[in-house]
Amino acid sequence: MPTVYLSKFSFSNPEPHLRAEHTQDTCRGLGFGLVQALAANPDNIIFAGARNPSSKELAAFAAAHPEQVIPIALDSADVPLNKAAAKLIEEKVGKLDVVIANAGMGKVSTMSDIEIPEFVETFKVNVLGPLVLFQNTQQLLRKASSTGKFVTISSVQGSVSNMIPGPSGAYGASKAAVNSVTIKIQEENPDLIVFPMCPGFVATEGASKFTKDQGAPREIMNSAAPISVAAANVLKHISEAVKVDQPKTLWTARGTSLGKEVPF
Ligand SMILES: NC(=O)c1ccc[n+]([C@@H]2O[C@H](COP(=O)([O-])OP(=O)(O)OC[C@H]3O[C@@H](n4cnc5c(N)ncnc54)[C@H](OP(=O)(O)O)[C@@H]3O)[C@@H](O)[C@H]2O)c1
Repeated sequence: MPTVYLSKFSFSNPEPHLRAEHTQDTCRGLGFGLVQALAANPDNIIFAGARNPSSKELAAFAAAHPEQVIPIALDSADVPLNKAAAKLIEEKVGKLDVVIANAGMGKVSTMSDIEIPEFVETFKVNVLGPLVLFQNTQQLLRKASSTGKFVTISSVQGSVSNMIPGPSGAYGASKAAVNSVTIKIQEENPDLIVFPMCPGFVATEGASKFTKDQGAPREIMNSAAPISVAAANVLKHISEAVKVDQPKTLWTARGTSLGKEVPF
């Protein structure tokens, strides 16, 4: 019986300095690393969610893994698209073993200056996105071969008790909110394993732009983990995860500068 995953694929455009430093994999977001790592195991079937599932790059990757990688249209918090994706998965394989809510965004601004539409968009993608995904995949997770797992990719920036200084309040607030939503989903669905986790500091386009916009020196990206390392850590943690009734800390990937658990 194959293990069936649903994860965001993510093709971001690389910043030139990242492209030069990590030719293998930093030209993609974490979602690509996850799908790439999963596709290396022939026992996995991966539904790769993307806003543009017919993009050339995704089509090429799926064509190279014809039995395993199925592109699927998915956009954060889009209820009809999420419903349609679940219906397609139901018809094709009838279950989901693991769902990874990976899509995320963040704009750099102070609380005084952030434009309200930007704040709302951040919450839509980072909080409502995982919630809508859960609502539409929960029944498929209940048909998993063992206990279904729903994982939100969060961030240490969401820690309230250990708040990271800097103008990233909207992003941090959205990650604090999605931690809360995720833990509530676990409380309400004890038959599933549900948790948020942080991938650590990862050399993606999103992280590069975020740190640059915060005024951090470009060299800081040198301490970020390559996507392949972070993806392997995330998947290892997901495969080893067992149910915790009341999570007290946010697990963050090892092999990076932030490899530890942090309090919510
Ligand atoms: N990289 C890090 O250091 C780091 C650290 C902590 C947490 N994280 C979290 O890890 C996850 C992946 O981040 P990443 O670094 O891989 O970022 P990324 O390179 O910017 O990729 C972000 C992902 O979110 C999707 N996305 C962005 N804006 C969206 C929108 N408005 N609607 C729908 N989808 C949208 C992107 O889709 P497209 O490909 O279609 O653009 C892409 O799949 C995020 O949840 C992020 O918060 C990352």
